Amino acid sequence: MSFSKAISRLAAYFKRHGLAATIFRARLAVKRALFADRMVILYCDLVERRLPNVNAPTVLKVERLRALTELRTEHLQAMTSFWNPKLANQNIRERFEKGASLWLIECQEQLAGYGWTFQGSTIEPYYFPLAQDDVHLFDFYMFPDYRGQGMNPYLIGGILNSLTTGRGRRAFIEVAEWNSAQLSSLRKTPFRRLGSARSLTIFGYTFVSWTKDDTDARIDNNSESVSQTLETARSNEH
Ligand SMILES: CC(C)(COP(=O)(O)OP(=O)(O)OC[C@H]1O[C@@H](n2cnc3c(N)ncnc32)[C@H](O)[C@@H]1OP(=O)(O)O)[C@@H](O)C(=O)NCCC(=O)NCCS
Repeated sequence: MSFSKAISRLAAYFKRHGLAATIFRARLAVKRALFADRMVILYCDLVERRLPNVNAPTVLKVERLRALTELRTEHLQAMTSFWNPKLANQNIRERFEKGASLWLIECQEQLAGYGWTFQGSTIEPYYFPLAQDDVHLFDFYMFPDYRGQGMNPYLIGGILNSLTTGRGRRAFIEVAEWNSAQLSSLRKTPFRRLGSARSLTIFGYTFVSWTKDDTDARIDNNSESVSQTLETARSNEH
């Protein structure tokens, strides 16, 4: 919507509803325009319970890579060819340089998808600081031919199982509220909903707006654990 159209709509709203309601509506509109998509943030405690072992069909293999040199050329090409290859290559290189791990899932020796993890912090500004042993899971992608077959939950399950035996304490992942495929996929993993939030980063400062909604309780029946985790996450901010 153009700026002038937005102003004329607000003027019409002002005539009908008065000043207070218009200010409220304008603030909402500015917030929507400035803030990123509302994200659902999920967590998984890695040490407080034993995660079920993923029974691996032999055709599936999950592999962790810690350096660009470990990534086969054909896999790098597959990962970068479906969007801006230059930016994608740069992204991958930078992530490895910062210490991120790339997890690949192969089906009958073909690359089916991948996801990233980063420990102790996040590559991009986040909703709260992570503890040293926490792990952030991000940027999961399944190639179209492999979607809808449970590959993503299998990959995430494999990652969580590996991290449980490592130093990780709590894992976090987020998904845009509109991404029903990933939301549905994450329901098949041990991740539980923490809450939903929008964020805005200006001059290195990140502002987070949390939304308390009823769906938290519906999605996660372990609400006590959710509120405890939320408290911990918030106290990490100070
Ligand atoms: C989100 C994504 C990672 C899920 O991977 P996946 O291996 O297909 O996950 P699942 O098999 O658990 O399927 C999840 C949902 O995808 C949808 N789906 C099913 N078949 C599908 C297909 N052929 N194509 C696309 N989506 C399909 C369904 O809604 C399914 O949920 P359901 O099993 O409850 O019906 C994958 O769709 C993807 O890579 N999307 C593009 C990138 C993205 O959105 N990444 C996540 C944000 S970081």
